[in-house]
Amino acid sequence: MNRTLRRAVIAGNWKMNKTPAEAEALLAETLPLVANAACDVVACVPFVDLPAALQAAAGTNLKIGAQNCHFEASGAYTGEIAAPMLAEMGVQYVIVGHSERRTYFGDTDKTVQQRLAAALKAGLTGILCVGETREQREQGITDELVAMQVKIALQGVAKEDLHRVILAYEPVWAIGTGLTATAEQANEVCGVIRQTVASLYGDEAAAGLTIQYGGSMNAKNAAELLAMEHVDGGLIGGASLKAADFAAIVAAASR
Ligand code: PGA
Repeated sequence: MNRTLRRAVIAGNWKMNKTPAEAEALLAETLPLVANAACDVVACVPFVDLPAALQAAAGTNLKIGAQNCHFEASGAYTGEIAAPMLAEMGVQYVIVGHSERRTYFGDTDKTVQQRLAAALKAGLTGILCVGETREQREQGITDELVAMQVKIALQGVAKEDLHRVILAYEPVWAIGTGLTATAEQANEVCGVIRQTVASLYGDEAAAGLTIQYGGSMNAKNAAELLAMEHVDGGLIGGASLKAADFAAIVAAASR
């Protein structure tokens, strides 16, 4: 993490957890613990929790995000949520291309690109997830694959909008498994991402890009991961559901 060049961002990804009442309770517990953070703090909550979460977080340093958005602004897409709907509510962040969306809900590099474009058009900050599966790592194609995911997703993103893009490197084999990439593995691939962005937008833009690591990041391993040059934050699943654990990660990013 290079604090002179870029913002550290710790974002919780609650996934399909917490009812609105439970969301309110978790935020009430979390907010005082992260109030003095010296990094950006975000909670990406289920759609139906957004009103409660926005209300709970109003006037605090915690920003609220969603976990997906559709690529059209409106239309016949039963069950979907459009980016302008989120923006109008006061949502500031949205995750796009999470591996669970890619695996279970048919998201492709192309639709991820479209969703990111829609998010940026609506004024949101996109947290763009990329990462390889275990098989892909074993085949030795991690760097090429991640570079390709980044290039496709950023297609059409204007340089002036890049400050509203956060990259999240999430090796699929590390998500929810308790297996964490080593700090060196995380740094290496985050470095590949930065180099890929440099090839598209130039060195200065790439140097200012926030790149998170995600995949079983927790209170114990966060400091080591965040000490690496190219790891500027974390996208936190399981540990974001426990206020003390999430706060410990925020504290590690604030040092
Ligand atoms: P995990 O999830 O921290 O539970 O591994 C991370 C993510 O999927 O964003």
